[in-house]
Amino acid sequence: MERHQLLAELHARLSPRNYLEIGTDAGVSLSLSRVPSIGIDPAYSIAAELDTDIQLVRATSDDYFRDHNPCERFGGDPLDFAFIDGMHWAEFALRDYIYVEAYSTPTSVIVFDDMLPRNVDEAARDRHTIAWTGDVFKVTHVLKALRPDLVVLEVDTAPTGTVVVLLPDAGSATLVDHYRAVEAAMLEAADPQELPDRVRLRTEAVDPAKLLACEWWTTLVDERAGRVPAGSLASALAVQDWSALRVHQAVPATVPATADEGGARRFSFER
Ligand SMILES: C[S@@+](CC[C@H](N)C(=O)[O-])C[C@H]1O[C@@H](n2cnc3c(N)ncnc32)[C@H](O)[C@@H]1O
Repeated sequence: MERHQLLAELHARLSPRNYLEIGTDAGVSLSLSRVPSIGIDPAYSIAAELDTDIQLVRATSDDYFRDHNPCERFGGDPLDFAFIDGMHWAEFALRDYIYVEAYSTPTSVIVFDDMLPRNVDEAARDRHTIAWTGDVFKVTHVLKALRPDLVVLEVDTAPTGTVVVLLPDAGSATLVDHYRAVEAAMLEAADPQELPDRVRLRTEAVDPAKLLACEWWTTLVDERAGRVPAGSLASALAVQDWSALRVHQAVPATVPATADEGGARRFSFER
């Protein structure tokens, strides 16, 4: 499944009240939204037909979130659905997550693009390919290591993979507290980047069709609408067998057991 199809299917499943996108470029992903939206990009050049109430902001995400509360535009509602696809360096994507999560609720859904680069060249910090993911894939490990309260799902989308984050917590200060240490590790990591087999071979990635078929999307929408008690989504996610959604049911025998952690060892987030 192509990443824009995943986004379109998520719009349909979630029926979000609002949508925020960091990195809009020509507006292809933004054009999938049919609800009040904000698109943030310092160099957008919209070519797609935009069929909804969209505020385009010509600014970096850092500048936008320094001066604005996006919820003000949405009548005070938290962000229901956000797509992070801006600057492709890991520390930028992590900051973008921190910004978005601050305006979220546990029923918000946050998606990152370009989280499963196919090769080391594509994952370089110093761009030298046409298709470029940069090293944003590192954010997956950061979130899993520092925020076990989140559900962080690598999704096997074409071309370069996505990550879906569930159960965000606007009250968590963990990422802010660890940000400088994480940023220092990101800045130290010179090209070529070490690409864990988990990323390159997508060993833990879930099948987008299986993910979209999960019944708890309904619970998410019902909890947001107040039709089921707060915490219902978290309870449903706690009993989900994630391995059953994976594309690869087992790590191939040719992959050394430790290779999966290659990139992970780069970071030490302990204070
Ligand atoms: C890959 S494109 C986005 C594609 C779009 N989301 C889509 O799928 O159709 C990345 C965009 O991020 C923008 N960008 C770069 N740095 C940014 C930043 N600091 N804040 C927000 N957007 C940024 C670039 O100008 C570029 O247009």
